[in-house]
Amino acid sequence: MSRRNIADQLEGVERIREETRICRKYGIDYTVEKGRTMRLVNLLHPQALRLKVGTVIRETKSAATLRMAPVDGYLPPFQAGQYINLFVEIDGVRTSRPYSISSAPHQTGFYDITVRRVENGFVSDYLLDGVGPGDEFESSGPSGNFHYNPLFHEKHMVCLAGGSGVTPFMSMIREVTDRGLDREITLLYGNRREDDIIFHSEMKDRASRFGNFVYRPVISEPSKTCSELTGFINADLIRSVLNDLGSKTFYICGPSQMYEFCIPELEKLGIPKNKVRREMFGQPQDITAEPGWPREVEASTEFKVSVRGGKTLRARAGESLLAALERAGVVVPSLCRCGECSMCRIKLVSGKVFQPRGVLLRQSDREFGYIHSCAAYPLSDLKIML
Ligand SMILES: Cc1cc2nc3c(=O)[nH]c(=O)nc-3n(C[C@H](O)[C@H](O)[C@H](O)COP(=O)(O)OP(=O)(O)OC[C@H]3O[C@@H](n4cnc5c(N)ncnc54)[C@H](O)[C@@H]3O)c2cc1C
Ligand code: FES
Repeated sequence: MSRRNIADQLEGVERIREETRICRKYGIDYTVEKGRTMRLVNLLHPQALRLKVGTVIRETKSAATLRMAPVDGYLPPFQAGQYINLFVEIDGVRTSRPYSISSAPHQTGFYDITVRRVENGFVSDYLLDGVGPGDEFESSGPSGNFHYNPLFHEKHMVCLAGGSGVTPFMSMIREVTDRGLDREITLLYGNRREDDIIFHSEMKDRASRFGNFVYRPVISEPSKTCSELTGFINADLIRSVLNDLGSKTFYICGPSQMYEFCIPELEKLGIPKNKVRREMFGQPQDITAEPGWPREVEASTEFKVSVRGGKTLRARAGESLLAALERAGVVVPSLCRCGECSMCRIKLVSGKVFQPRGVLLRQSDREFGYIHSCAAYPLSDLKIML
């Protein structure tokens, strides 16, 4: 079949030919608009942003907000709940970490990210201790699916947050209350102690001013004078706060342990799976404690990893393959660093890795031996292809 014949099969081809004839006849340069769509896409979803820290706001003893403005004056829009992946170079290692944007989407002059210290954390320590006004970073554009979707989600959002997991909810709460949106938010926010609570006074203030926002902190190791709810965010506590459980979408955000804890509690309440959304803040701190981890392999056991056509490096079983590759100076694109986005996909040519539950690997990736390097832990010597 000739090219012309193939084109004839396409719907709307005659209309396009007619438009081309008219443009040619009247001397209109129909190539002027060439690339316009791509330019628009790049503006809305840029590959990389350059951000400059304007202010550092101390939130609690262990958390601070970095307010970052665009170096070139432009920030792409985002949905409340999305994150950026921030690139850093520490001691010669280039790595990145995702941070949810805690400012509201209608605040277009800057992005806030609110970082909480992770004990001995590689990047959180650096961001909290080594960064100040004027420092510049590269980041990805806003990304992620953890946001309200009017087509599928109920107007009443029940947000279950743990520790730094409150950040995407802060953005949603600011948006809904500031813009007077026709939605309700109930936030149950778990922390160990009262002084760990991030955004406490702003949350209290907004809850007192807006009828569509309910705020209930939950403290697991309360002081004697604590007047908040105490314990964990379990089925009984959720039932005691909500009048009825119907017509609500539940959002869980926090460390992976929190997700493991809350899902069975929501099941006890009979909440269907399609009414639950989740964002896990990274991989488990101790991967060897995960179900299915082979007991004979210790976190410190080292294996040889050969990159096809590249270098050979040592990797510890207790550290993700992505971290080991970065440590050795091998660049692998990454975004979510929690097994969800597929950006860090690599081919496992030979050897065995541990992949924790919850990693969203496509069926075809499984069949053809692709793994997410951010959520794969070496259990033997490996050969990989980038
Ligand atoms: C979608 C999403 C949104 C998030 N939003 C927030 C947020 O709003 N606020 C917040 O506080 N956190 C947030 N997090 C968590 C955040 O991305 C980091 O995981 C957290 O700050 C801890 O990072 P860390 O480097 O300090 O901890 P670490 O535990 O040190 O880092 C974890 C990884 O770094 C590796 N590593 C350690 N040392 C080195 C080294 N020398 N070279 C290379 N790798 C090394 C470790 O092996 C480990 O794999 C979010 C996570 C996700 C997935
Ligand atoms: S970086 Fe997203 S799956 Fe690994």
